[in-house]
Amino acid sequence: MSILLTGGAGFIGSHVAVELLDHGYDIVVVDNLDNSQMEVITRIQELTAKGFPFYKLDLMDSERLDQVFAEHAIEAVMHFAGLKAVGESVEKPLAYYENNITGTLNLCKVMSKYGVKQMVFSSSATVYGTPASLPIDESFPLSATNPYGRTKLMIEEMLADLVVSDASWSIAVLRYFNPVGAHESGRIGESPMGPPNNLMPYITQVAAGKREQLQIFGADYETMDGTGVRDYIHVCDLASGHLKALNYLKNHTGIDSFNLGTGVGYSVLDMIAAFRKVSGIEIPFQISERRPGDVAACYANSQKAQTVLGWRAVKSLEDMCRDSWRWQTENPEGYTERIPNTILNF
Ligand code: NAD
Ligand code: WQD
Repeated sequence: MSILLTGGAGFIGSHVAVELLDHGYDIVVVDNLDNSQMEVITRIQELTAKGFPFYKLDLMDSERLDQVFAEHAIEAVMHFAGLKAVGESVEKPLAYYENNITGTLNLCKVMSKYGVKQMVFSSSATVYGTPASLPIDESFPLSATNPYGRTKLMIEEMLADLVVSDASWSIAVLRYFNPVGAHESGRIGESPMGPPNNLMPYITQVAAGKREQLQIFGADYETMDGTGVRDYIHVCDLASGHLKALNYLKNHTGIDSFNLGTGVGYSVLDMIAAFRKVSGIEIPFQISERRPGDVAACYANSQKAQTVLGWRAVKSLEDMCRDSWRWQTENPEGYTERIPNTILNF
């Protein structure tokens, strides 16, 4: 039996793939490579010394997805595939609704057809909108402030309806806070196409001299130092959370959601200081306007994941900075041995 990873060539999916392979699972990966490269697949195989089937496949293509389920005995699905850029989602809402919602709909239909009813879904802390208080626990009211967030919310609701209709489904909704870091081998990491939207890859690109300086989006928030506070979590901690969720699904039906965060908030200035500590590099920055849609502070209460899944984050902020920096220095252009995606339609 295999675990199917949709979007398994992406930042988080690739780290979960390594974690699963290292723990003896068989996996099958599907990804349309819209936001990732084929080289990731080679690197996962090198790192783990294990092979697995990979399909360059879009979730819009239900027929080919059906074939994957016909060809492999799939036991559970980890569903990472989706578009994730908040700003882009405001400009192209329909692309986000189509890709994220229809993609999930197609996936659930094929899963139903083959009787595969265990799913781990990649949700986001963005579903809490602007939280009324901190830390955020899973019972907080949900809302969306942009189309990307709305797709996550809609998918969560769709999955809940599915469970109401058929109680034999087992679904774990994992709400990630701010994933950063990279595998400690330096072989896989986050490889943004174009200027990074997120803080950590921006910092590492400034440190590497690829960008002149960091713009800090607002220093007048009601936080300790005025800059935005977030719950950064190492991507390898996230990956171990997925294994715990998978184990949980084996013995539980229904749907439940879990925050995956450290429970600790750090400001943008904290991040710059932590990065300097591990790299010795001073990050030049300029304070600019607040970024529209940003909240002042956001961090998790992760007690539920600890109590129910037996999971907690163990990596420190220094680990996150060190591993992000190693990834950047050892892969200055990201995944460079790029194979043109157009020749990969196998
Ligand atoms: P990513 O873009 O690196 O990975 C997503 C992968 O899905 C990419 O490889 C992309 O090519 C693929 N994909 C997208 N649409 C597809 C489709 N229709 N068919 C097949 N493949 C498709 O993103 P990530 O950071 O690894 O995020 C993974 C998941 O976690 C996403 O659903 C994202 O919304 C969610 N998430 C990410 C963050 C974050 O900050 N990185 C935070 C919270 C939630
Ligand atoms: C972190 C802090 C910025 C860049 C986003 C999505 C969220 C989730 C995770 C998917 C904030 C500040 C950033 C920069 C800065 N993704 N910042 N200069 O906004 O918390 O969350 O990624 O689900 O949905 O919204 O993360 O890394 O963009 O920002 O000052 O160049 O860094 O204002 O305070 P965010 P981020």
